Amino acid sequence: MSKVRLAVIYYSTYGTNHQMAEIATEAARAAGAEVRLLKVAETAPETTVMGQPAWKAQAERTAHIPSPTNADLEWANAFLFSAPTRYGVSASQLRAFIDTLGPLWLAGKLSNKAVSAMSSAQNPHGGQESTILGLYTTMMHWGAIIVTPGYTDPIFYKAGGNPYGVSVTANGEPINDDVKEAIRVQARRLVTFAEKIAS
Ligand SMILES: Cc1cc2nc3c(=O)[nH]c(=O)nc-3n(C[C@H](O)[C@H](O)[C@H](O)COP(=O)(O)O)c2cc1C
Repeated sequence: MSKVRLAVIYYSTYGTNHQMAEIATEAARAAGAEVRLLKVAETAPETTVMGQPAWKAQAERTAHIPSPTNADLEWANAFLFSAPTRYGVSASQLRAFIDTLGPLWLAGKLSNKAVSAMSSAQNPHGGQESTILGLYTTMMHWGAIIVTPGYTDPIFYKAGGNPYGVSVTANGEPINDDVKEAIRVQARRLVTFAEKIAS
């Protein structure tokens, strides 16, 4: 039986990172991990969200998905983060959540966990890499064990070739099959290494 307890934690305005998180969740479950799919809380004013039909629709579609709690983060021994690029860095909704984790971090509850990250942006070179690297900088402060795709599988070349984490060029549109498969491989790789750390 797998010892991996994975929290897939995402933010998505238009649906891309939600799709990515769902695919990763399925793949990690198929690999034997216990998985919680968690959506960080919206921080934009309600009038802003409701004023953009695509944003409103995505919020309504995912209203049933719970937000991560400190208990979820303590429970998990692996994290997979997914967030869109905003001006070259992570969406602030995910950063705002991360900024609530000080007490857990101080208590050593975020250390020694396997982590990986994914992102999306509208443009092929719109900042996906810097977004993922920025998240990893924070995770180094936690003492996390970062599990990157690298070029460990041919699918990563076909899916854009970002060795830091799968990234998508999209604005909420359905993502293609190569990227879906790359997400599955990244998720399985994270589970594999989380299992080794837990054993
Ligand atoms: C405020 C804002 C800033 C953005 N900044 C960038 C950017 O720096 N580079 C880029 O290529 N796309 C940028 N985008 C586009 C998003 O990254 C794109 O919509 C994202 O991939 C959608 O992910 P989601 O469907 O999960 O929300 C920006 C979008 C918004 C609303």
